[in-house]
Amino acid sequence: MKNYITLFIAASALYSCGNSATVEPAGSEWFDNAVDLAEAQLLAAADYCDSTILFPRALKTDYSLEQLTAQMEVPVDSFKPEIELLKHPAPEEFREVSLVGYADWTSGFFPGSLWYAYELTGNEKLKEQAVKFTNRLLPVSDMTDTHDLGFMVNCSYGNANRLAPHDSIKNVVVKTAYNLAGRFDDKTGCIRSWDFGPWNYPVIIDNMMNLDLLFNAAKITGDSSFVTVALRHADTTMKNHFRDDFSCFHVVSYNSDGSVERRQTFQGKADDSAWARGQGWALYGYTELYRNTGEKKYLDHAEKVAKLIIDKNKTDDLVPYWDFDAPAGETTPRDASAAAVIASALFELGAHTDNQQYIRYATRILHSLASPRYLATKGTNGNFVLMHSTGSLPHGSEIDTPLNYADYYFLEALVKYKRLANGESPVIRMF
Ligand code: GLY
Repeated sequence: MKNYITLFIAASALYSCGNSATVEPAGSEWFDNAVDLAEAQLLAAADYCDSTILFPRALKTDYSLEQLTAQMEVPVDSFKPEIELLKHPAPEEFREVSLVGYADWTSGFFPGSLWYAYELTGNEKLKEQAVKFTNRLLPVSDMTDTHDLGFMVNCSYGNANRLAPHDSIKNVVVKTAYNLAGRFDDKTGCIRSWDFGPWNYPVIIDNMMNLDLLFNAAKITGDSSFVTVALRHADTTMKNHFRDDFSCFHVVSYNSDGSVERRQTFQGKADDSAWARGQGWALYGYTELYRNTGEKKYLDHAEKVAKLIIDKNKTDDLVPYWDFDAPAGETTPRDASAAAVIASALFELGAHTDNQQYIRYATRILHSLASPRYLATKGTNGNFVLMHSTGSLPHGSEIDTPLNYADYYFLEALVKYKRLANGESPVIRMF
């Protein structure tokens, strides 16, 4: 464990030279407008969910098989049968808010958004709701059947620790982290992502986002085994998930001896395509790894992924199509959630590298997301903040809809933007 403390001191030293990047001062009209809107929408959503034990996730959407197959560039009649069996929502449910319980992978994002909105506004009502919705996630700390525990607990309890610290938060984080680390297999060198599907041992790129929870648990407990697991997972993923151009596969499954079973997509256009949000998770994940270790190989990797994203993102407003290799056109679904994840990661990468290009790119994304093209108007959009994200197009699921994680990473990026405008480091540490 003591080595690990050294690692953290080295990483901390990097922050001091990492905040010289600049943006225009916050307080511009677009920024204030986005924050005001988020405040109103989130408070309305919290009221709406108050009498339940649920969290808002998205608006229910429908799909057409013609659109799906055209986007995936496969004949309509060759489409995967299990997909065709997907039910369409009843007409009266179309664009109804889908509410989820604590065990859903997205359950941490709504409490997390309340925390960021509180940080941006200082509105005590938001804090009150953030505490309430965070506490509803307590049972997550008993879950062992998913890798998404980092998303669920870091975004909620992690932000709670920054903004309203309390001893009980640490217990939740540590207990959850033990369950996450319990999914690590020494032979494969990875944490298992899913317990469903046809794969022997599936690991998805999204899993990089769960590693920060392990570093936080190591900080709290001094137990270096959390760091060992996180580093093994990151190194194995770096070796097996990435192609020569630094785009990544979504799913890599392993045989029991640790060799790769197959490389596939689940939510992207094709096995060899660059699913937009997946590239965002990779960028964010390795940027975060550098924050937590100070090891240059992770920074270099994050920069290579950033280059790939910047090269491949061809939309006029930098909000990506749902998959970078999807056929581009007027009706190609965008993914505002991918845009928000990329913007948030690039603010941090810009600080670590002192590279203004990343800051400018992230700021351009924020300008787009805060424009009427993506930002909801008050009282509409199921009280979500952003419109036009895509959850899983190949599953006909959540296409061109608000998503709670788009809102979360958008608000996080706004916090980072504000910090930069105030001459502060945009780097957010939960612990
Ligand atoms: N982690 C699941 C997704 O990005 O859709």
